[in-house]
Amino acid sequence: MRLVALTDRQLRASPGLKWGRAGRDVIPADIAELDFAVAPPIRAILRDAVTRSHLGYPDYTTGTPVRLAELFAQRMRDKRGWQPDPGAVEICAQITQALCCAILAYTRVGDQVLVHTPTYPPFLEAIRSLGRQPVLLPVANHHDACAAESWAAVEKERHIRLIVLCQPHNPTGHVFDTATLEAIARLAVRREAVIFSDEIHAEIVYSETNCPTIASVADAAERSVVFTSAAKTFNIAGLRCAVGHFGSSALHDGFRGMPWHLRSGAGALGVTATITAWESCDEWLDQLRARLNTNRAIVSDFLSHIDRARFLPPDATYLAWIDLRDARLVPDARTFLLNEGKISLQPGTVFGPSLEGFVRLNFGTSGRRLRVILERFCDALEMCNRKGLGG
Ligand SMILES: Cc1ncc(COP(=O)(O)O)c(C=O)c1O
Repeated sequence: MRLVALTDRQLRASPGLKWGRAGRDVIPADIAELDFAVAPPIRAILRDAVTRSHLGYPDYTTGTPVRLAELFAQRMRDKRGWQPDPGAVEICAQITQALCCAILAYTRVGDQVLVHTPTYPPFLEAIRSLGRQPVLLPVANHHDACAAESWAAVEKERHIRLIVLCQPHNPTGHVFDTATLEAIARLAVRREAVIFSDEIHAEIVYSETNCPTIASVADAAERSVVFTSAAKTFNIAGLRCAVGHFGSSALHDGFRGMPWHLRSGAGALGVTATITAWESCDEWLDQLRARLNTNRAIVSDFLSHIDRARFLPPDATYLAWIDLRDARLVPDARTFLLNEGKISLQPGTVFGPSLEGFVRLNFGTSGRRLRVILERFCDALEMCNRKGLGG
């Protein structure tokens, strides 16, 4: 089973969000999707389902969703050293949908929801649009010398009912260590808050980095809801299937108190593809990790030659969070790189306030294409330097 990089022609023919809307001369490295063909067993099972017209409603009570719940529990035990109870698992269409349901089930309008900043944009949108107040905790300060100050600020907030964690963190790729998770758990206990942990990126972790789950922290286990999916790792986000575990029957009941059509809805193909990904694609995943590990080194090498780019290689994810504030690009970093470099990166601004000079680069692509992206990146910055274009 080989990891196959898709060609420019194949990618440009895709109607999807990443390549479908990029101009002909622009290389997109923004949306968190991979430029690799989906693993052969997943393609085969999907082809088979289509050929046999197995496209009806899944049987959510005894069929593949139940099998998926068991497989999830087994995979968490084998890969992450955590033993979830399959009976406390729910299958949804999307993690963000599950978060919206958790907000509705465990908090009231006006309550505070703690979340790291920068923040995966749909989190903030969910919190705000449901009338809750986001409390932003800078991710850079989570475990270092500045942490005390950040945590002290959080301590002043009296109405935190929900803590939203992204482990590993998007966009920085940081993996929160056990000490940090324990600090989060203690805060949750003091506030009697629920912890919702989005662990969608937990299978793309580099070298020896361990990616602990909040559910394995003793104080947090009973107050945590952990969701993950195969969407990012196996590049099947459009199939809509997410899996989550509830640390107590009270949390599970609260979630199940939401209307079924609000909290469920994974499609038959998504469920089947996720089962196949987790059962039969680990060899493919090893190759993907090796490719991404090399890509991470390529990004680090390129960026180490640019004075005005600051970058910490991520512990996990295929995302590089790059600080270009010193380059003072105008009108902003993202637009500058799009206009001058013909590369499309995610602008820092979508991840929260005061992040104008940051961009997020997706390095989940072939080594060759990544080098072209980085050459364009460097040339654009070099040109800005020469012409004195910085603001
Ligand atoms: C942290 C995080 N959560 C969730 C998602 C999307 O998952 P879903 O479509 O299941 O909400 C992404 C996609 O990039 C993500 O990075």
